[in-house]
Amino acid sequence: MKTAVIGADGQLGSDLRKIIPDNELIPLTIKDLDIADYEKTRAVLLAAAPSVVINTAAYHRVDDCEINDNEAYRVNAHGAKNLSLICRELNIDLVHISTDYVFSGDRMSPYSETDPPDPKTAYGISKLAGEQFVKYLIPAHYVVRTCGLYGVAGCLGKGGGNFVENMIRKAAAGEAIKVVDDEIVGPTYTFDLAQKIWELVRTKKYGLYHITNSGQCSWWEFASEIFKIQGIDVKIKKTSAAEFKAMAHRPKFSILENKMLERSGLSGMRPWKEALRAYLEERGRSIR
Ligand SMILES: NC(=O)c1ccc[n+]([C@@H]2O[C@H](COP(=O)([O-])OP(=O)(O)OC[C@H]3O[C@@H](n4cnc5c(N)ncnc54)[C@H](OP(=O)(O)O)[C@@H]3O)[C@@H](O)[C@H]2O)c1
Repeated sequence: MKTAVIGADGQLGSDLRKIIPDNELIPLTIKDLDIADYEKTRAVLLAAAPSVVINTAAYHRVDDCEINDNEAYRVNAHGAKNLSLICRELNIDLVHISTDYVFSGDRMSPYSETDPPDPKTAYGISKLAGEQFVKYLIPAHYVVRTCGLYGVAGCLGKGGGNFVENMIRKAAAGEAIKVVDDEIVGPTYTFDLAQKIWELVRTKKYGLYHITNSGQCSWWEFASEIFKIQGIDVKIKKTSAAEFKAMAHRPKFSILENKMLERSGLSGMRPWKEALRAYLEERGRSIR
Protein backbone atom coordinates (compact mmCIF):
# COMPACT_ATOMS: atom_id res chain seq x y z
CA MET A 1 0.00 0.00 0.00
CA LYS A 2 1.51 3.33 -1.09
CA THR A 3 0.47 6.56 0.59
CA ALA A 4 0.94 9.94 -1.07
CA VAL A 5 1.37 12.85 1.33
CA ILE A 6 0.51 16.22 -0.21
CA GLY A 7 2.27 19.10 1.58
CA ALA A 8 5.02 16.67 2.54
CA ASP A 9 7.45 19.40 3.65
CA GLY A 10 4.87 21.16 5.85
CA GLN A 11 4.46 20.83 9.58
CA LEU A 12 2.09 17.84 9.60
CA GLY A 13 3.46 16.45 6.32
CA SER A 14 6.98 16.24 7.77
CA ASP A 15 5.76 14.17 10.71
CA LEU A 16 3.73 11.91 8.41
CA ARG A 17 6.97 11.33 6.50
CA LYS A 18 8.64 10.18 9.75
CA ILE A 19 5.85 7.70 10.49
CA ILE A 20 5.05 6.18 7.11
CA PRO A 21 7.67 3.58 6.12
CA ASP A 22 9.89 4.84 3.27
CA ASN A 23 8.87 2.04 0.91
CA GLU A 24 5.18 2.96 1.35
CA LEU A 25 5.58 6.75 1.08
CA ILE A 26 5.15 9.09 -1.88
CA PRO A 27 6.05 12.56 -0.60
CA LEU A 28 4.60 15.37 -2.75
CA THR A 29 5.27 19.07 -2.32
CA ILE A 30 4.12 22.22 -4.09
CA LYS A 31 7.01 21.61 -6.52
CA ASP A 32 5.27 18.41 -7.67
CA LEU A 33 1.72 19.68 -7.86
CA ASP A 34 -0.72 22.43 -6.95
CA ILE A 35 -3.95 20.79 -5.77
CA ALA A 36 -5.94 23.60 -7.39
CA ASP A 37 -4.56 22.49 -10.79
CA TYR A 38 -6.77 19.51 -11.70
CA GLU A 39 -4.85 18.26 -14.75
CA LYS A 40 -1.42 18.35 -13.16
CA THR A 41 -2.65 16.79 -9.91
CA ARG A 42 -4.41 14.02 -11.82
CA ALA A 43 -1.33 13.29 -13.93
CA VAL A 44 0.94 13.08 -10.86
CA LEU A 45 -1.43 10.82 -8.92
CA LEU A 46 -2.09 8.64 -11.95
CA ALA A 47 1.65 8.09 -12.40
CA ALA A 48 2.38 7.59 -8.68
CA ALA A 49 -0.60 5.22 -8.21
CA PRO A 50 -1.02 5.43 -4.42
CA SER A 51 -3.79 3.62 -2.53
CA VAL A 52 -4.19 6.54 -0.13
CA VAL A 53 -3.73 10.30 -0.47
CA ILE A 54 -3.30 12.43 2.66
CA ASN A 55 -3.96 16.08 1.84
CA THR A 56 -2.33 18.47 4.34
CA ALA A 57 -2.13 21.36 1.85
CA ALA A 58 -4.03 24.52 2.70
CA TYR A 59 -4.01 28.28 2.44
CA HIS A 60 -4.37 28.98 6.12
CA ARG A 61 -3.11 32.41 7.05
CA VAL A 62 -6.42 33.22 8.69
CA ASP A 63 -6.22 37.01 8.41
CA ASP A 64 -4.89 36.93 4.82
CA CYS A 65 -7.83 34.70 3.85
CA GLU A 66 -10.17 37.61 4.70
CA ILE A 67 -8.44 39.83 2.13
CA ASN A 68 -7.57 37.16 -0.41
CA ASP A 69 -10.60 34.92 -0.17
CA ASN A 70 -10.23 33.86 -3.83
CA GLU A 71 -6.98 32.13 -2.93
CA ALA A 72 -8.62 30.53 0.13
CA TYR A 73 -11.41 29.08 -2.04
CA ARG A 74 -8.96 28.12 -4.81
CA VAL A 75 -6.80 25.98 -2.53
CA ASN A 76 -9.05 24.98 0.36
CA ALA A 77 -12.27 24.36 -1.57
CA HIS A 78 -11.40 23.73 -5.25
CA GLY A 79 -8.20 21.90 -4.32
CA ALA A 80 -10.25 19.55 -2.12
CA LYS A 81 -12.83 19.16 -4.90
CA ASN A 82 -10.11 18.22 -7.41
CA LEU A 83 -8.61 15.65 -5.07
CA SER A 84 -12.06 14.17 -4.38
CA LEU A 85 -12.81 13.73 -8.09
CA ILE A 86 -9.37 12.37 -8.93
CA CYS A 87 -9.21 9.97 -5.98
CA ARG A 88 -12.73 8.69 -6.69
CA GLU A 89 -11.86 8.08 -10.34
CA LEU A 90 -8.53 6.38 -9.53
CA ASN A 91 -9.93 4.37 -6.61
CA ILE A 92 -7.73 6.04 -4.00
CA ASP A 93 -8.79 6.62 -0.36
CA LEU A 94 -8.62 10.34 0.53
CA VAL A 95 -7.66 11.79 3.91
CA HIS A 96 -8.40 15.51 4.05
CA ILE A 97 -7.23 17.70 6.94
CA SER A 98 -9.60 20.35 8.23
CA THR A 99 -9.89 22.70 11.16
CA ASP A 100 -11.66 23.88 14.32
CA TYR A 101 -12.39 27.11 12.37
CA VAL A 102 -15.42 25.40 10.80
CA PHE A 103 -17.01 26.31 14.16
CA SER A 104 -17.58 29.84 15.42
CA GLY A 105 -16.36 28.96 18.92
CA ASP A 106 -19.11 31.12 20.35
CA ARG A 107 -20.26 28.50 22.84
CA MET A 108 -18.23 27.20 25.77
CA SER A 109 -18.65 23.44 25.39
CA PRO A 110 -16.68 21.01 23.17
CA TYR A 111 -17.77 20.49 19.57
CA SER A 112 -18.30 16.92 18.44
CA GLU A 113 -18.44 15.60 14.87
CA THR A 114 -22.25 15.75 14.95
CA ASP A 115 -22.43 19.46 15.81
CA PRO A 116 -23.46 21.68 12.88
CA PRO A 117 -20.59 23.85 11.61
CA ASP A 118 -21.01 27.64 11.73
CA PRO A 119 -17.80 29.22 10.43
CA LYS A 120 -17.29 32.96 10.85
CA THR A 121 -14.21 33.53 8.67
CA ALA A 122 -13.26 33.21 5.01
CA TYR A 123 -10.73 30.58 6.08
CA GLY A 124 -13.35 28.58 7.99
CA ILE A 125 -15.91 28.84 5.18
CA SER A 126 -13.35 27.77 2.57
CA LYS A 127 -12.28 24.79 4.69
CA LEU A 128 -15.90 23.79 5.29
CA ALA A 129 -16.53 23.97 1.54
CA GLY A 130 -13.51 21.67 1.06
CA GLU A 131 -14.94 19.23 3.60
CA GLN A 132 -18.29 19.22 1.80
CA PHE A 133 -16.72 18.43 -1.56
CA VAL A 134 -14.88 15.52 0.03
CA LYS A 135 -17.96 14.29 1.88
CA TYR A 136 -20.27 14.35 -1.14
CA LEU A 137 -17.87 13.45 -3.95
CA ILE A 138 -15.88 10.52 -2.60
CA PRO A 139 -17.29 7.85 -0.29
CA ALA A 140 -13.82 6.49 0.60
CA HIS A 141 -12.79 9.51 2.66
CA TYR A 142 -11.61 10.55 6.08
CA VAL A 143 -12.05 14.21 7.01
CA VAL A 144 -9.85 14.99 10.00
CA ARG A 145 -10.45 18.23 11.90
CA THR A 146 -7.72 19.35 14.22
CA CYS A 147 -6.64 22.42 16.23
CA GLY A 148 -3.62 24.50 17.30
CA LEU A 149 -0.92 22.55 15.46
CA TYR A 150 2.77 22.72 16.30
CA GLY A 151 5.51 20.46 15.03
CA VAL A 152 9.26 20.24 14.60
CA ALA A 153 9.17 21.36 10.96
CA GLY A 154 7.26 24.56 11.74
CA CYS A 155 4.25 25.76 9.82
CA LEU A 156 5.28 26.63 6.25
CA GLY A 157 2.02 28.41 5.52
CA LYS A 158 2.62 30.76 8.45
CA GLY A 159 6.25 31.60 7.79
CA GLY A 160 7.95 28.45 9.09
CA GLY A 161 7.54 28.93 12.85
CA ASN A 162 4.99 27.76 15.35
CA PHE A 163 3.55 29.13 18.59
CA VAL A 164 6.02 27.25 20.81
CA GLU A 165 9.09 28.42 18.92
CA ASN A 166 7.74 31.98 18.70
CA MET A 167 7.40 32.08 22.49
CA ILE A 168 10.90 30.67 23.05
CA ARG A 169 12.40 33.11 20.53
CA LYS A 170 10.71 36.11 22.14
CA ALA A 171 11.88 35.08 25.61
CA ALA A 172 15.45 34.55 24.37
CA ALA A 173 15.42 38.00 22.75
CA GLY A 174 14.18 39.55 26.02
CA GLU A 175 11.02 40.80 24.29
CA ALA A 176 7.91 41.55 26.34
CA ILE A 177 5.49 38.65 25.94
CA LYS A 178 1.76 39.27 25.83
CA VAL A 179 -0.57 36.36 25.14
CA VAL A 180 -4.32 36.07 24.71
CA ASP A 181 -6.06 34.49 27.70
CA ASP A 182 -9.65 34.42 26.47
CA GLU A 183 -9.34 31.89 23.64
CA ILE A 184 -9.43 28.24 24.62
CA VAL A 185 -7.63 25.73 22.40
CA GLY A 186 -6.55 22.11 22.24
CA PRO A 187 -2.88 22.39 21.24
CA THR A 188 -1.93 19.42 19.11
CA TYR A 189 1.52 18.02 18.34
CA THR A 190 1.70 17.10 14.66
CA PHE A 191 3.68 13.94 15.44
CA ASP A 192 0.78 12.61 17.56
CA LEU A 193 -1.72 13.61 14.89
CA ALA A 194 0.36 11.94 12.17
CA GLN A 195 0.52 8.70 14.18
CA LYS A 196 -3.25 8.69 14.67
CA ILE A 197 -3.93 9.41 10.99
CA TRP A 198 -1.66 6.53 10.04
CA GLU A 199 -3.65 4.22 12.36
CA LEU A 200 -6.95 5.55 11.04
CA VAL A 201 -6.24 5.04 7.34
CA ARG A 202 -5.82 1.33 7.88
CA THR A 203 -9.22 0.90 9.56
CA LYS A 204 -11.29 1.69 6.45
CA LYS A 205 -13.76 3.26 8.87
CA TYR A 206 -14.44 6.24 6.66
CA GLY A 207 -16.01 9.47 7.86
CA LEU A 208 -15.47 12.63 9.85
CA TYR A 209 -13.03 12.64 12.79
CA HIS A 210 -11.90 15.21 15.34
CA ILE A 211 -8.30 14.50 16.34
CA THR A 212 -6.53 16.67 18.92
CA ASN A 213 -4.38 16.11 21.97
CA SER A 214 -6.70 15.88 24.97
CA GLY A 215 -7.45 18.65 27.45
CA GLN A 216 -7.74 22.36 26.94
CA CYS A 217 -6.02 25.63 27.81
CA SER A 218 -5.91 29.29 26.89
CA TRP A 219 -3.04 30.47 24.69
CA TRP A 220 -1.65 32.15 27.85
CA GLU A 221 -1.73 28.84 29.76
CA PHE A 222 -0.08 27.12 26.80
CA ALA A 223 2.71 29.72 26.77
CA SER A 224 3.15 29.39 30.56
CA GLU A 225 3.51 25.61 30.28
CA ILE A 226 6.18 25.95 27.56
CA PHE A 227 8.40 27.81 30.01
CA LYS A 228 7.40 25.78 33.08
CA ILE A 229 8.51 22.52 31.45
CA GLN A 230 11.86 24.08 30.63
CA GLY A 231 12.23 25.61 34.10
CA ILE A 232 12.47 29.11 32.64
CA ASP A 233 11.07 32.01 34.66
CA VAL A 234 9.45 34.40 32.20
CA LYS A 235 6.78 37.01 32.82
CA ILE A 236 3.90 36.58 30.37
CA LYS A 237 1.30 39.31 30.33
CA LYS A 238 -2.30 38.34 29.72
CA THR A 239 -4.18 40.07 26.96
CA SER A 240 -7.58 39.63 25.32
CA ALA A 241 -8.60 38.84 21.76
CA ALA A 242 -10.31 42.24 21.61
CA GLU A 243 -7.08 44.01 22.57
CA PHE A 244 -5.11 41.92 20.05
CA LYS A 245 -7.35 43.23 17.23
CA ALA A 246 -6.79 40.48 14.66
CA MET A 247 -8.56 41.02 11.35
CA ALA A 248 -10.40 37.66 11.34
CA HIS A 249 -12.73 36.46 14.07
CA ARG A 250 -11.01 33.87 16.29
CA PRO A 251 -13.09 31.13 17.97
CA LYS A 252 -13.26 31.77 21.74
CA PHE A 253 -13.62 28.06 22.39
CA SER A 254 -12.01 25.62 19.96
CA ILE A 255 -12.25 22.33 21.78
CA LEU A 256 -13.01 19.39 19.51
CA GLU A 257 -14.40 16.34 21.25
CA ASN A 258 -12.72 13.26 19.68
CA LYS A 259 -15.94 11.23 19.81
CA MET A 260 -15.58 9.30 16.54
CA LEU A 261 -12.08 8.06 17.44
CA GLU A 262 -13.56 6.48 20.54
CA ARG A 263 -16.52 5.05 18.61
CA SER A 264 -14.12 3.53 16.06
CA GLY A 265 -12.25 1.69 18.80
CA LEU A 266 -9.03 3.68 18.33
CA SER A 267 -7.16 4.79 21.44
CA GLY A 268 -7.51 8.42 22.51
CA MET A 269 -4.85 11.08 22.15
CA ARG A 270 -2.50 11.85 25.04
CA PRO A 271 -2.93 15.06 27.11
CA TRP A 272 -1.54 18.23 25.54
CA LYS A 273 1.00 18.80 28.36
CA GLU A 274 2.59 15.37 27.74
CA ALA A 275 2.66 16.04 24.00
CA LEU A 276 4.29 19.43 24.55
CA ARG A 277 6.98 17.86 26.71
CA ALA A 278 7.63 15.26 23.99
CA TYR A 279 7.90 18.03 21.38
CA LEU A 280 10.39 20.01 23.49
CA GLU A 281 12.45 16.84 24.02
CA GLU A 282 12.39 16.15 20.28
CA ARG A 283 13.65 19.71 19.68
CA GLY A 284 16.49 19.03 22.12
CA ARG A 285 15.35 21.69 24.61
CA SER A 286 16.50 21.24 28.19
CA ILE A 287 13.50 20.27 30.26
CA ARG A 288 12.88 19.80 33.97
N1 LIG B 1 -1.46 25.08 11.67
C1 LIG B 1 -2.51 24.99 12.47
O1 LIG B 1 -2.52 25.46 13.60
C2 LIG B 1 -3.75 24.22 12.01
C3 LIG B 1 -4.85 24.09 12.87
C4 LIG B 1 -5.97 23.36 12.43
C5 LIG B 1 -5.96 22.77 11.17
N2 LIG B 1 -4.90 22.94 10.36
C6 LIG B 1 -4.90 22.31 9.03
O2 LIG B 1 -3.89 21.33 9.05
C7 LIG B 1 -3.32 21.17 7.76
C8 LIG B 1 -1.81 21.14 7.84
O3 LIG B 1 -1.32 22.32 8.44
P1 LIG B 1 0.26 22.58 8.61
O4 LIG B 1 0.41 23.41 9.83
O5 LIG B 1 1.01 21.30 8.47
O6 LIG B 1 0.52 23.49 7.30
P2 LIG B 1 1.88 23.86 6.53
O7 LIG B 1 3.08 23.65 7.39
O8 LIG B 1 1.65 25.21 5.94
O9 LIG B 1 1.92 22.76 5.38
C9 LIG B 1 1.08 22.83 4.26
C10 LIG B 1 1.84 22.34 3.07
O10 LIG B 1 0.99 22.38 1.92
C11 LIG B 1 1.69 23.01 0.84
N3 LIG B 1 0.73 23.67 -0.04
C12 LIG B 1 0.11 24.86 0.15
N4 LIG B 1 -0.71 25.12 -0.87
C13 LIG B 1 -0.61 24.08 -1.73
C14 LIG B 1 -1.23 23.75 -2.96
N5 LIG B 1 -2.10 24.59 -3.53
N6 LIG B 1 -0.92 22.58 -3.55
C15 LIG B 1 -0.01 21.75 -3.00
N7 LIG B 1 0.61 21.99 -1.83
C16 LIG B 1 0.31 23.15 -1.20
C17 LIG B 1 2.62 23.98 1.51
O11 LIG B 1 3.69 24.31 0.64
P3 LIG B 1 4.26 25.83 0.56
O12 LIG B 1 4.13 26.43 1.93
O13 LIG B 1 5.65 25.65 0.11
O14 LIG B 1 3.37 26.52 -0.41
C18 LIG B 1 3.06 23.18 2.73
O15 LIG B 1 4.11 22.31 2.40
C19 LIG B 1 -3.96 22.25 6.89
O16 LIG B 1 -5.00 21.67 6.16
C20 LIG B 1 -4.55 23.24 7.88
O17 LIG B 1 -5.71 23.87 7.35
C21 LIG B 1 -3.79 23.65 10.75
